[in-house]
Amino acid sequence: MGRRGFNFIFASYLFVIIMLFLGMCKGSTIGVCYGRNGDDLPTPDKAVQLIQLHNIKYVRIYDANIQVLKAFANTGIELIIGIPNSDLLPFSQFQSNADTWLRNNILPYYPATKITYITVGTEATEVPNNVSAMVVPAMQNVLTALRKAGLHRKIKVSTTHSLGVMSRSFPPSAGAFNSSYAFFLRPLLEFLAENQSPFMVDAYPYYAYRDSSSNVSLDYALFESSSEVIDPNTGLLYTNMFDAQIDAVYFALMALNFRTIKIMVTETGWPSKGSPKETAATPDNAQTYNTNLIRHVINDTGTPAKPGEELDVYIFSLFNENRKPGLESERNWGLFFPDQTSVYNLDFTGRGSVDITTGANITSSNGTWCVAASNVSDADLQRALDWACGSGNVDCSAVQPSQPCFEPDSLVSHASYAFNSYYHQNGATDIACSFGGNGVRTNKNPSYDNCIYTTTGSKITAASNATIASPSKSSSAAGRVFARVPGCLLMGYLNFLLTAVIS
Ligand SMILES: *[C@@H]1O[C@H](CO)[C@@H](O)[C@H](O)[C@H]1NC(C)=O
Ligand SMILES: *[C@@H]1O[C@H](CO)[C@@H](O)[C@H](O)[C@H]1NC(C)=O
Ligand SMILES: *[C@@H]1O[C@H](CO)[C@@H](O)[C@H](O)[C@H]1NC(C)=O
Ligand SMILES: *[C@@H]1O[C@H](CO)[C@@H](O)[C@H](O)[C@H]1NC(C)=O
Ligand SMILES: *[C@@H]1O[C@H](CO)[C@@H](O)[C@H](O)[C@H]1NC(C)=O
Ligand SMILES: *[C@@H]1O[C@H](CO)[C@@H](O)[C@H](O)[C@H]1NC(C)=O
Ligand SMILES: *[C@@H]1O[C@H](CO)[C@@H](O)[C@H](O)[C@H]1NC(C)=O
Ligand SMILES: *[C@@H]1O[C@H](CO)[C@@H](O)[C@H](O)[C@H]1NC(C)=O
Repeated sequence: MGRRGFNFIFASYLFVIIMLFLGMCKGSTIGVCYGRNGDDLPTPDKAVQLIQLHNIKYVRIYDANIQVLKAFANTGIELIIGIPNSDLLPFSQFQSNADTWLRNNILPYYPATKITYITVGTEATEVPNNVSAMVVPAMQNVLTALRKAGLHRKIKVSTTHSLGVMSRSFPPSAGAFNSSYAFFLRPLLEFLAENQSPFMVDAYPYYAYRDSSSNVSLDYALFESSSEVIDPNTGLLYTNMFDAQIDAVYFALMALNFRTIKIMVTETGWPSKGSPKETAATPDNAQTYNTNLIRHVINDTGTPAKPGEELDVYIFSLFNENRKPGLESERNWGLFFPDQTSVYNLDFTGRGSVDITTGANITSSNGTWCVAASNVSDADLQRALDWACGSGNVDCSAVQPSQPCFEPDSLVSHASYAFNSYYHQNGATDIACSFGGNGVRTNKNPSYDNCIYTTTGSKITAASNATIASPSKSSSAAGRVFARVPGCLLMGYLNFLLTAVIS
């Protein structure tokens, strides 16, 4: 592929090494739960359009409905799919049931529909009839079915929990699982640790506030508190209840010596409406909670016990679901009404700079670009370019021979293309343009027709003046909304340098 072709073998090698170092370091993500317990909801196709319009990249669904799976095909959206509690019995009884389900209900739609997790049962300890006893056997059969299909590394198996599995959650350091569930949790946690699957928990500060409003301030539940709650055992300071709930789970896992299991928040949120007694269920509070949650999570703050730790979080829920039983609030967790209008505005990027209804020109609007520095060596530039196109996950196909951005055919332009894409896909922060000193930010728009034309380098081959001077179309901006985080970026790049030295 020539000097400037990307050395894909090298890049993939790097990628593997970096993944080994980091686990799947991709930064915290925000997804949305798409429940369908309503008789007035839009069709799956319409729902998926709405999801795409709002640049939501991660979605949890509660079953494996074929229409829904088909609607997500070729969208790039990553799905958690579910096996409902009511189906657990056959899955737990016979391996062949899990095999058949995988073959008939999943494989025909995979990988066009991107499935990354299967939840086997939901909040099993909340339902009667000792359903939890079936969960781990069913998980094992699902995993075995995936293994036979060669998919056990791509699709992880877990199950979700309510905070009801805890017997104690305050102070967080005293977090402990209810020993009544030990028969279920012990083999479950062993399964998760063995298969690097996350512990999935549905965490609702709303309920903690509603059911204990004399002890919990609304501000604390909404991430708005100006005071802190101190954990007397650890001295850790908590400014919000979400962190306290998550840390309680961390400490409960640690108490059982499961230190490697990651936590994933498969549901959280705030209802916009409730019964007369549920005074905190308002659109304002829901907007405040979810806005603050997103900011808190994508900025990768972590929790006091695990600062900087990545946390993937799913907001419940996409739509108000009118067929859910229970209190009025149950039917009002949605971000959208069934007619697809917003219940309140929510900025999924957490940066406050994006109009959710457009979502498209996120980054170009700030008027900064990231290009190759002029004073660096070709070898350094090439390495940084390979990194961006490899483990940096930039789609560099456009700068390959005969593709639209191959011209101008210069290392600086190709590197600038890759750097700029990476920069915009990763929050357009200083650090996302460092590339070990090979990248520089600029206010001058170097793009035209989505390609990058760089004049800073000494080795640029002639690019016609016309293309340099022409007004820009916005450089492709609809990148990942849910940003990778600086700490992760830095580690990724350090590992890249390290690996580059080793090789
Ligand atoms: C549930 O099933 C498990 C395993 O069969 C058993 O050990 C446990 O006692 C049962 N719990 C209840 C409440 O029936
Ligand atoms: C533990 O779970 C059992 C069974 O669901 C329940 O009766 C008990 O109240 C729980 N204990 C605590 C401390 O939550
Ligand atoms: C508030 O906390 C006190 C002491 O920790 C406890 O006794 C009381 O039950 C709590 N009240 C509510 C409503 O949870
Ligand atoms: C991340 O969140 C913390 C706490 O909410 C805040 O202090 C910090 O400034 C935020 N960082 C960024 C980069 O937004
Ligand atoms: C971004 O999109 C909005 C709405 O379409 C438009 O008003 C604005 O001018 C765009 N900004 C840039 C820099 O393209
Ligand atoms: C390139 O120039 C920048 C700013 O002029 C400087 O900070 C950087 O150290 C230089 N890099 C090299 C490799 O000379
Ligand atoms: C956008 O520009 C402002 C002002 O220059 C800067 O503070 C902010 O960090 C930029 N945002 C991004 C995402 O680069
Ligand atoms: C670029 O423009 C300048 C002046 O307008 C002209 O002299 C030069 O030949 C042009 N270069 C190319 C490659 O077209």
